[in-house]
Amino acid sequence: MNVKHLAIIMDGNGRWAKARGKVRTEGHFKGVEVVRDAAIAANDLGVEVLTLYAFSTENWKRSADEVGYLMKLPALFFNRFLKELMEKNIRIAMTGEMDQIPADTAKVLTSAIEETKNNTGMVLNFAMNYGSQREIVLAARKYAEEVLSGKRANDLEVDQFDQYLMTSEFPPVDLMIRTSGECRLSNFLLWQLAYAELEFIDLPWPEFTAETLKERMEQFKKRDRRFGGVKG
Ligand code: IPE
Ligand code: IPE
Ligand code: MG
Repeated sequence: MNVKHLAIIMDGNGRWAKARGKVRTEGHFKGVEVVRDAAIAANDLGVEVLTLYAFSTENWKRSADEVGYLMKLPALFFNRFLKELMEKNIRIAMTGEMDQIPADTAKVLTSAIEETKNNTGMVLNFAMNYGSQREIVLAARKYAEEVLSGKRANDLEVDQFDQYLMTSEFPPVDLMIRTSGECRLSNFLLWQLAYAELEFIDLPWPEFTAETLKERMEQFKKRDRRFGGVKG
């Protein structure tokens, strides 16, 4: 079975920097290059959707300086790599709430989405200002509104709920990788990961490579995904 939807929690930039006597933002800067490498490698490996956790709804708790720097990364990334992504036919998407993102950052994201909207290759989807619990609450509200307005009955089934989520256009996640050694989800795609295979890697994000990705994708192929059934 191939990985249609790959999701990655890009963690460990700060610790990578600290271990080298650098400031945290230098870790984020290095991480941007790794985003490019991971996107190109995933595309070459036939992934259909790559969702990268770039900024969580909880990351606003960080210092204003760090948040400000993180919000500059989309411009840095697209200035350097959008041309190459275009050549590879990659489409940019975003999962998260755009409204609270600073206007200049939102503009950069919107124009990358617009510029690549007709590309038919891999979708490079950034989870920005994203939190899964909030996503689920917003989905519940949307559904409730439809019921209250008489548009539909109170008959929602499990396989219909994802149409209310921000990721409604994408298949469920097959493989989720988190770098930095932390074994937690940190409010990432809780619904979409229901039957995903999980890989926790000890390397911090700045040290993640195409080679590591390839290795984990190979291991994925050997997993016996039973989805609650019995191996036939
Ligand atoms: C991931 O690295 C980047 C974001 C969460 C935006 P961190 O900044 O969380 O780095 P650590 O986990 O503190 O090392
Ligand atoms: C998760 O990493 C969010 C992103 C990678 C964007 P965090 O570093 O914010 O998660 P915690 O705080 O270690 O759980
Ligand atoms: Mg972290």
